[in-house]
Amino acid sequence: MAKRTDPIGVFDSGVGGISVLRALLHKMPGENYLYYGDSANAPYGTRTPEEVTALASNVASKLADQGVKALVVACNTSTSVAMETLKKNHPELIVVGIEPSVGLAASQFPEGHIGVLATPATIAGRRFMYQAEPYPNAKISLIPAPNLVEIVEAGKYDTPEADAYLGNLLRPYIGKLDALVLGCTHYPFVEKALHRVLGEQVAFFDGSSITAEETYRQLLAAGLLNEDGGAVQIQNSLQDKKILTLCMELLGTQEEI
Ligand code: DGL
Repeated sequence: MAKRTDPIGVFDSGVGGISVLRALLHKMPGENYLYYGDSANAPYGTRTPEEVTALASNVASKLADQGVKALVVACNTSTSVAMETLKKNHPELIVVGIEPSVGLAASQFPEGHIGVLATPATIAGRRFMYQAEPYPNAKISLIPAPNLVEIVEAGKYDTPEADAYLGNLLRPYIGKLDALVLGCTHYPFVEKALHRVLGEQVAFFDGSSITAEETYRQLLAAGLLNEDGGAVQIQNSLQDKKILTLCMELLGTQEEI
């Protein structure tokens, strides 16, 4: 039986879900958190749906075994292919996923040109496209970004290497976009590089705040909200201290982004 003081489990293929953890901490600073990054197996976004489902299920079980009261799937790729399996495997837990926030972007730019930047797996699944249906005049461009996760995992998110990669990938869109949806939880960390490439006028949208709101709503409904904690524990499948240091560095970028 879950208790109020049990931690919220948050996981991603690697360090990207820290952008969701930041939003969760902002919304619910009194919760305890257990974050798991599967960096040894990142990236997920160039794998088959079966592989992603198997990896995400394995990580979810690790967190469930450590007594979390909820699972936040802080990975768009895992959400898009593995959500049903995760809910089926853990009927005792609140399970919340993250989707590219296309609906929010389109509601603010209903006549605009909106880019959706995501992993190849998330783009191929097109699961989020239903959000654009109420906005038939919005022009949506789907932009898969293989290798961008690796740049963030290597800690090179605010470097000339990130600028060069994004400059090349986004060249056809420079000067054309009103908004860009950051459809992978690693991407909020390249926001500065994206602004350098696209200019300051493009609005960015990511799903972290919506996910934090939804987690809050579900915990409240279950009577499981905690205001007396605040502990954050970070685990990673990569047995390398550097990855934990990177997670703490990314968690500390809260004020800037
Ligand atoms: N942060 C994950 C996501 O939101 C990245 C997946 C990957 O490892 O490719 O999709």
